Amino acid sequence: MSIKNDLLLRTLAGEKTARPPVWMMRQAGRYLPGFMKLKEKYPFFERVQNPELATEITVMPLKEVGVDAAILFSDILVIPQALEVEVQMVPGKGPLVPQPIRSAEQVAALPEVDAADRLHYVMDAVRSTVKAIEGEVPLIGFAGSPWTILCYMVEGQGSKTFDQAKAFCFSQPQAAHQLLQKITDVTIDYLKAKQAAGCDVIQLFDSWGGLLSPEDYRHYSLPYLKQIAEALAPNTPVILFAKGCWYALEEMTALPVKALGVDWTITPQMAREFTQFQVPLQGNFDPARLLSPIPEIEKMTRQMIQDFGPYKYIANLGHGILPNIPVDHARAFVNTVKSFDR
Ligand code: CP3
Repeated sequence: MSIKNDLLLRTLAGEKTARPPVWMMRQAGRYLPGFMKLKEKYPFFERVQNPELATEITVMPLKEVGVDAAILFSDILVIPQALEVEVQMVPGKGPLVPQPIRSAEQVAALPEVDAADRLHYVMDAVRSTVKAIEGEVPLIGFAGSPWTILCYMVEGQGSKTFDQAKAFCFSQPQAAHQLLQKITDVTIDYLKAKQAAGCDVIQLFDSWGGLLSPEDYRHYSLPYLKQIAEALAPNTPVILFAKGCWYALEEMTALPVKALGVDWTITPQMAREFTQFQVPLQGNFDPARLLSPIPEIEKMTRQMIQDFGPYKYIANLGHGILPNIPVDHARAFVNTVKSFDR
């Protein structure tokens, strides 16, 4: 099916467009009143596992803020669930893995699974969303990076430092690499199925990559991202967002990805310096800056577009939108990009 608003797809293909495309990480989330209503009624994983609900939430930001792409409402933690590792979402606290992975024996005991089959509800949600979007904009599917998924599987919960996850990697490196490889294999099958079900673009979230040193990133994250990118590249454009990983940007340009996401701790000029316009960049508005008065948001957004330069650019936030952002502020961000005139 051809897509009416193909700004994102054309930018990922390296084409010049009249203005940059814009979407927001975590755009299908808690800042939307409609989302909060559904959240009151249904627990998190019920929203994720019910294709009608997932579709309804996915299309919300298209109507409410007018973004140029949809991202499927789901979560990166469906991958541990597919591997039969229990994950709960505790209201007010976040993810919880009651029996975290801490030993080589636990890694070896993880089952061989058909991820596409286990996560069939995600594919149903993709198909149902494609119908609902009616070819207006592209649909982004996603997965966590193997390193970021390992963080949750080993730590057992969210953390600022993921000390347990790092301790596991550095004291039991062989088991850690076995786990990373299992996650990688399952993620590749899962993302291929998502692509086959109708996702036009895949984004990989390496949310905790910035916790590693540049040297450890080369061992514990990049090789696995490379395998995933290589497996998907022939059929689907891949965007890699690795938070806090400015230090690896140059190396990431060698991966078969069509865009690299950057957070707000690096200037657009520095990000271009590291990547030399070899690949489109995506980002990097500080999500908290959406709390500024609207005229300031508009001014900063225009400045950001100018600083990234005219082409090979996807406007986005530097990480997920925060729950306390007023919807009209999110809309001001999106509309400023849409009215940007080269
Ligand atoms: O709009 C979108 O971006 C699509 C939906 C989406 C969710 N999670 C829904 C969600 C996406 C892309 C994710 C990815 C995700 N999930 C990441 C990577 C992106 C990032 O922010 O770094 C991570 C690390 C997770 C794991 C996760 N899921 C955490 C840490 C939490 C709790 C913290 C929080 O933000 O509330 C979740 C829960 C979650 N996933 C919510 C949403 C909308 C909020 C909880 C709820 O709605 O009940």
